[in-house]
Amino acid sequence: HPPKYQMEESSVLRRANCRAKGGAPGFKVAILGAAGGIGQPLAMLMKMNPLVSVLHLYDVVNAPGVTADISHMDTGAVVRGFLGQQQLEAALTGMDLVVIPAGVPRKPGMTRDDLFKINAGIVKTLCEGIAKCCPTAIVNLISNPVNSTVPIAAEVFKKAGTYDPKRLLGVTMLDVVRANTFVAEVLGLDPRDVNVPVVGGHAGVTILPLLSQVKPPSSFTQEEINYLTDRIQNGGTEVVEAKAGAGSATLSMAYAAVKFADACLRGLRGDAGVVECAFVSSQVTELPFFATKVRLGRNGIDEVYSLGPLNEYERIGLEKAKKELAGSIEKGVSFIRG
Ligand code: NAD
Ligand code: LMR
Repeated sequence: HPPKYQMEESSVLRRANCRAKGGAPGFKVAILGAAGGIGQPLAMLMKMNPLVSVLHLYDVVNAPGVTADISHMDTGAVVRGFLGQQQLEAALTGMDLVVIPAGVPRKPGMTRDDLFKINAGIVKTLCEGIAKCCPTAIVNLISNPVNSTVPIAAEVFKKAGTYDPKRLLGVTMLDVVRANTFVAEVLGLDPRDVNVPVVGGHAGVTILPLLSQVKPPSSFTQEEINYLTDRIQNGGTEVVEAKAGAGSATLSMAYAAVKFADACLRGLRGDAGVVECAFVSSQVTELPFFATKVRLGRNGIDEVYSLGPLNEYERIGLEKAKKELAGSIEKGVSFIRG
C-alpha cells in the first residue's frame, strides 16, 4: 500500500475528471528541491494555486514529510511526493511546468558564483531527467548562480536534442519584487501599484533596474537612483547577512517563484498580455542570454522585448552588467561542453 498521502491513481483521475467537467484548467507542476527553504513555502503556495491540478514534490531528503503535510490542505491540487534520484523520473513524467529551487544557498561572504561548484552538477542531473521524461515542460530555474545555471540547462537540453529556448526561463522575479517594494517606499506608493523592469541577470551589477521606465512614470533624484540601484542589486546579500549563516532569501523567493510560475501557467492557459521579466535566450544584446521583459503564451515565451530607451546612468550600468554576464554564461556553457 502506498502511504496515505500518495493518492491512488484512480482517485487522481477521478479528481482530474471532475475538474475537466467543471471546465477548470489544470496543470501538472513539479518542484525539484521541494523540501528546502524555498521549496517548502513554494510547495504550499503552489498547492493554493487553482491552476494546478497535480503537484509533484521531489527532493533527495524529507520529501515524504513535506508531502504528507501539504497534502492535508483542502485545495484542489493532488500532491505526490518523490524521494531520491531513483524516483526522479516518476516525479517528472507528464509535467507541464518544472520549478527548480534545488541546490545550496549562500552564507555571508560568499558570492552566488561560489555556489557554482555544487549547484552546476545538481542542475545538470535534474535537467537530464527533464530532457528524458518531460522534454516539452516549461522550466523555471531558481538555483544559483542563475547567470550560469540557465546556460547549463540549455546545453544539457541541446545535448539531448530537446532544447526549446521558449521553454527555459531563469527566475529573476525576486529582483522585480524587491525593486517594486523599495521604489514604492521611496515614492510613498503601494507596492502593488508599482512596476519596475529589472534586466540583465541575477547577481550584483548584472541586476539592472530600469528606474527610467518605472510605472507609474516617476522621477528620482540622483541620490535616490544611487540608493535604489544599490539596494536592489544587493537585496540578496542584505538577506544573507541578516540570516547570518542560516541561508538566503526563502520566503520572499517562494512568493516571487509562485508569482512567476502563475504567470507561466496563465500563459499556457492562453491568457493574453502576460508579461514578466526573466533571464532567457535572447537577441536583445550580443549575449546569448539576458533578462528582459518577456510575453508568456501557450508555448512558453511568445516574445522577448527589447530594452527600451535607457538613460546615460543605465547605459553605463548595462556595459558593466554585460561584462560580468559574458563570463558567467561562458562558465556555464563550458561546464557541459568541457
Ligand atoms: P536549501 O538548502 O534550504 O534547500 C535546497 C534543497 O535542495 C534541499 O532540500 C536539498 O535537499 C535539495 N537538493 C539538493 N540537491 C538536490 C538534488 N540533487 N535534487 C533535488 N533536490 C536537491 O536552499 P534554499 O534556500 O531553498 O535555496 C535553494 C537555491 O535557490 C540556492 O541555490 C539559492 O542560491 C537559490 N536562490 C535563488 C534565488 C533567485 O532569485 N533565483 C533566490 C533565492 C535563492
Ligand atoms: C537572492 O537574490 O536572494 C538569491 O539569489 C539568493 C542569494 O544568494 O542572494
